[in-house]
Amino acid sequence: MNSPKVIALSGSLREKSYNQTLIQAAAAFALESGAEVEVIKLQDLNIPLFSEDLEAIETPEGVKLLKEKLREADGILLASPEYNGSFTAALKNAIDWASRTEQGAVPAFRNKVVALLATSPGGLGGLRGLNHVRDVLSGIGSLVLADQLAVPAAYDAFDEQGKIKSPELADKVSSLALQLVTVASKLK
Ligand SMILES: Cc1cc2nc3c(=O)[nH]c(=O)nc-3n(C[C@H](O)[C@H](O)[C@H](O)COP(=O)(O)O)c2cc1C
Repeated sequence: MNSPKVIALSGSLREKSYNQTLIQAAAAFALESGAEVEVIKLQDLNIPLFSEDLEAIETPEGVKLLKEKLREADGILLASPEYNGSFTAALKNAIDWASRTEQGAVPAFRNKVVALLATSPGGLGGLRGLNHVRDVLSGIGSLVLADQLAVPAAYDAFDEQGKIKSPELADKVSSLALQLVTVASKLK
């Protein structure tokens, strides 16, 4: 198998984010499945709110870094909190910045295989936000896997070390990560 490059990130800026914990677990499974994996924390990128005026002056360093990582990647593991039935503004803002294409450059999200996950304290696990992020990413050329995972009761899903407590849930996350790695390696 061609070893695909996968980046893993969440749409949360919260220090103890459940979604970042989930994506970290998914990243570990992707590594076991043979991918090269890099976990990115959105808050470390310090991405300002997008404005075309700001963009005309300079592209922020965090955006440059994100675009570079996206361009190198074959696959993306992405988890987002659900805020008011959608995905987070922080993630939309990062997508908006990264979707901007310099002349002659390949759009950063084009042909990237994406696996979507979410977790929330609520009963639907952030499922409603995933429909929106799927729409947005499909619209800018990403290949979003049909399978996705929304994990309810986030407060009870992980142990102190961030490991998934339930073997059944661990199997589901592992299967999704394996699917991403398999598809990304074929398209590489
Ligand atoms: C503004 C706001 C809106 C929210 N709306 C929802 C929602 O629609 N559905 C839901 O399941 N949880 C909602 N929540 C709760 C989040 O799921 C919860 O804060 C979660 O821990 C955020 O993910 P994180 O831990 O990865 O940061 C909302 C939280 C905030 C701050």
